[in-house]
Amino acid sequence: MRPLPILVAAALGLAAHSTYAAGDSNAGRNKIYQCQGCHGISGWKTAFPEVYQVPKLGGQNAQYIVAALKQYKSGERDFATMRAIAATLSDQDMEDIAAYYGGKAAGDTPKQQPEPKK
Ligand code: HEC
Repeated sequence: MRPLPILVAAALGLAAHSTYAAGDSNAGRNKIYQCQGCHGISGWKTAFPEVYQVPKLGGQNAQYIVAALKQYKSGERDFATMRAIAATLSDQDMEDIAAYYGGKAAGDTPKQQPEPKK
């Protein structure tokens, strides 16, 4: 048996292929305090839809979120605020946050601002 390489490979495989990545949504729940002010989830936010100008993350595809955060961190995608925030996140943070936001899709029926699923 070679359990370790297999586990590592499995984790990488999950991160690359699974909808929910290898993140832990419970851990993610504690990491989004700095995101919610701008990216409110339906039912959480206080602003009216009309003034909502930030992409909604709740229900977004988890891999899409991780990819976007990595692009902000690397500078590939440039938006000053998001770049500064992404720079503080580890890969694990990104996976956890993405798992949390992505997982919202299953349990949450958006009551407003439905976003096109990607
Ligand atoms: C100060 C407000 C603000 C905060 C705080 C903030 N964001 Fe953002 N975020 C934005 C804006 C504005 C955009 C759109 C930027 C653009 O056009 O590239 C964005 C874009 C994104 C995107 C890309 C979404 C898409 O649909 O392409 C992701 C993913 C994201 N943010 C995740 C996060 C996470 C995770 C956090 C917390 C760690 C966070 N953001 C905190 C304002 C914020």
